[in-house]
Amino acid sequence: MKAVAVTPGTPNSVHLEEIAPPKLDSVANGMGVLVKTLKVGVDATDREINDALYGNPPPGDDFLVIGHESFGIVTEVGPQVRGLKPGDYVTATVRRPGSSIYDLIGTYDMTSEETYYERGINLRHGFLTEAFVDHEDYIVRVPQGLKHLHVLMEPMSCAAKAVHQAFEAQRRMRVWRPRVAYVLGAGQIGLLTSLVLRLRGLEVYTLARGAAPNLKSEIASGFESTYVSTAGTSLSELVKNTGRPDLVVDATGSSQLAFDAMSAVGHNGVVVWTSITGGQRKIEVPSDAINIQWVLGNKLLLGSVNANREHFEMGIRDLAMGEMMFPGVAEKILTSPVDGLDNYREMMRLLVEDQDALKVFVNIAAE
Ligand code: BGC
Ligand code: ZN
Repeated sequence: MKAVAVTPGTPNSVHLEEIAPPKLDSVANGMGVLVKTLKVGVDATDREINDALYGNPPPGDDFLVIGHESFGIVTEVGPQVRGLKPGDYVTATVRRPGSSIYDLIGTYDMTSEETYYERGINLRHGFLTEAFVDHEDYIVRVPQGLKHLHVLMEPMSCAAKAVHQAFEAQRRMRVWRPRVAYVLGAGQIGLLTSLVLRLRGLEVYTLARGAAPNLKSEIASGFESTYVSTAGTSLSELVKNTGRPDLVVDATGSSQLAFDAMSAVGHNGVVVWTSITGGQRKIEVPSDAINIQWVLGNKLLLGSVNANREHFEMGIRDLAMGEMMFPGVAEKILTSPVDGLDNYREMMRLLVEDQDALKVFVNIAAE
């Protein structure tokens, strides 16, 4: 069967690869779930893997099948699978456990090992192919009523984790009643994070460069977040208007802006960084000022990567709630479909060149 792959280490090597179809019994103890892939989304991670900034093939292979935002339909389950059946819509978690204590208890997103195993990213093949198989533990059901949001489940899991981590960490406060949140960046993670925070009742500001109105501002407003164009209003001006935010989530993909976020947050507040920046950029930061503000304000900086099964489940519940509160808004993120795996070049072109593409995804098969 066909798969879209790269040759890690070689820039711009995206190509079609012919691979063997997955076998249900490759998963031990009858726990396998065989999934027919319907759609797969791609993001900046896939772009940076194709730029050879990171990404490694599974041991023994010289190619890596990419794609980690999956959506499919179960076609067959092993005899010991209890929670899924053929016909169910599903997505799959991305990371697979290593051997640290965190991996062993299902929180592989918090592994303490340097090496991490991620389908489509590092040491494990991804989902940009016709079918895949995995252990039931890593396959998450998508409600029928959310199938129109298909490839958003994985990015939503990362947004859900980022916010959940902030609330978990803020238990240090005994009482934490955040009122104002800034989300920096209005790409898929920024917009979905804005939704998660609105559903928790915060006053949310979504900041991005482009002047409103545009699609990003339309979606942010649709989630009842206030869209702020940083071309018109600087971060410090916004702070003057709203007071210091209790929570800032950076999802810009710019390490400069990630550091800028640190000057905005209020006392006892938390800044969450979610972007992967594969480059080598170096910037100057006001280190004395940040240091003193950070100490005198008991502030917290938190990194958040990936998501485990629980975060997928949280994200899916939030998407369902989002559809109740703000019907028809989330699907506006799904801007840029590409038909068929054969069109992988067009997929990469949209990902690299189309500034207006919020979400590029491949329609792989009909049901
Ligand atoms: C993925 C995460 C992954 C991270 C780092 C992101 O694009 O969505 O699941 O952990 O990249 O590889
Ligand atoms: Zn991703």
